[in-house]
Amino acid sequence: MTLPVFKKHDPPAVLAPMAGISDAVFRRICVEHGCDFTYTEMVSAKGLFYGGRKTRALIRVSEAEKPCAVQLFGSDPGIISEMIKALADEYAGEIAMIDINMGCPMPKITGNGEGSALMRDIPRAAAVAEAAVKASPLPVSCKFRKGWDDNSVNAVEFARAMEESGVSLLTVHGRTREQLYHGPADWDIIGEVVSRVGVPVLGNGDVFSGEAAKKLISHTGCAGVMVARGAEGNPFIFEEIRAALDGRPYSPPTEYERMTEAIRHTEEFLEEKGPRLFPEMRKHLSWYTKGMRGSLDFRRAVNTVRSPEEMLELLRSFRDQLVCGEAGEKTL
Ligand SMILES: Cc1cc2nc3c(=O)[nH]c(=O)nc-3n(C[C@H](O)[C@H](O)[C@H](O)COP(=O)(O)O)c2cc1C
Repeated sequence: MTLPVFKKHDPPAVLAPMAGISDAVFRRICVEHGCDFTYTEMVSAKGLFYGGRKTRALIRVSEAEKPCAVQLFGSDPGIISEMIKALADEYAGEIAMIDINMGCPMPKITGNGEGSALMRDIPRAAAVAEAAVKASPLPVSCKFRKGWDDNSVNAVEFARAMEESGVSLLTVHGRTREQLYHGPADWDIIGEVVSRVGVPVLGNGDVFSGEAAKKLISHTGCAGVMVARGAEGNPFIFEEIRAALDGRPYSPPTEYERMTEAIRHTEEFLEEKGPRLFPEMRKHLSWYTKGMRGSLDFRRAVNTVRSPEEMLELLRSFRDQLVCGEAGEKTL
């Protein structure tokens, strides 16, 4: 069972919200590679309420990356409700869903009772969810974890409370807040949630290949998979997942093709965000080049470039070396 917003494929493969990563450029690239649905980076409801320009900039959704959900975080039902009404009004036709972040582990978020801190306060989480559902003309989903720590694994109880609050879709990341992103994700807990609620559930955690996506679905019965780190430097993963789910063979991109995508990503990033922000591309470029011969030297060099032009020049010469065989085998 899935939601009408995931209209492309069933089961859908979606790009996870990732602060600092899943911006409009990366979302669009993932959609071009077969991603069914995207989420903005997490957006502070309070930040929106107080009119932060930077916060608002996170919401821009372009035609080519639709459908896209806006992910909000916050623990004040009044502010959440007011901001959802404002967003639905201002971005009518642009946004497909509102997701509430109830899984962020960062101390500066949980310290305010937001993100995964809501898993320790189910009545407040339910009040936030109810306010969101009441205010929103769009479907509301929420994303949470296995629990706060191993002594308080409450994903099933939490999921049922969210369902009772009227949420239409749940995403479960199979790690506790205490685990952050370490250790294997617990897919059993995702399966338990799936079997105890009536709404669709997306499974999240450790999908780094098409085969893993297939296994997660068969292991848990989840309605679709959400991919975060598996897409870093590898937007091609959505093609791989679709091939695996359709039972088709998949041929991965050559290193040259990966680098061509990295260059395009960089160019579009610079065009949309402005040349001054070129250092933000460094992390993406480390991921794109991971495992390629010469990538260590490339990463060292990319960390010292001082302009977007230098960055692009370095990228092009690294890609060309791949063809000449200087930094790796011929891949064309
Ligand atoms: C750099 C980074 C930023 C993230 N930002 C967010 C975020 O803004 N909102 C959110 O709900 N989860 C965020 N997450 C968590 C991911 O969405 C996902 O739940 C987690 O990485 C597990 O999935 P994975 O094993 O596929 O990486 C972030 C994760 C990473 C690595």
